[in-house]
Amino acid sequence: MQHIAIFASGTGTNAARIIDHFRHHDSIRVSLIVCNKPGAGVLDVAKREHIPSLMIEKTPFFQGTAYVDELRAKKIGFIVLAGFLWKIPTALIRAYPGRIINIHPALLPKYGGKGMYGRFVHEAVIRSADKESGITIHFVDEQYDHGQPIFQAKVVVEPDDTPDTLAKKIHLLEYEHFPRVIGEVIDSAEADLQNHR
Ligand code: GRF
Repeated sequence: MQHIAIFASGTGTNAARIIDHFRHHDSIRVSLIVCNKPGAGVLDVAKREHIPSLMIEKTPFFQGTAYVDELRAKKIGFIVLAGFLWKIPTALIRAYPGRIINIHPALLPKYGGKGMYGRFVHEAVIRSADKESGITIHFVDEQYDHGQPIFQAKVVVEPDDTPDTLAKKIHLLEYEHFPRVIGEVIDSAEADLQNHR
């Protein structure tokens, strides 16, 4: 079994979709929710789904072992960021090379970087009068929204779109693609491992 930890600090609507997608999968399971925000909606998702959650704190995350021991003890093999706003420390990236995936609600490299999340992204897209936006699923490296892209999908930005209507369209794209792409990344990492054995 491949165990996924979802890191999230928001409402967790993507987390809920991902959990559901792998519910009956024979070799992949969401086994842990990692959160840095007490009261975040994603914690309710975890409770409802009977998935354990781990609350993390700044100092051990950035200046300690980044919870690597805890994740290993829980046999976590892949980390999925779904609305997690802290930068991922080097210790965690080293412990999970090619095994940390993020989703960003824009077509990177546009509209990424520190402070570019949620409605700030959609506001910037609309301010720039871009004709399209979308989602980017990518591997995580030490810089915000920077690692190797895995998948992109686009939506048309209509002249009457607002940050809210655009956010809704983007969320639908995320629900449609993110769970499937996670499964593909895990399958191909596993296949690579087998080939090198
Ligand atoms: C998503 O739009 C994702 O792209 C971004 O954070 C948001 C999380 O939304 N990284 P939700 O908590 O899954 O509803």
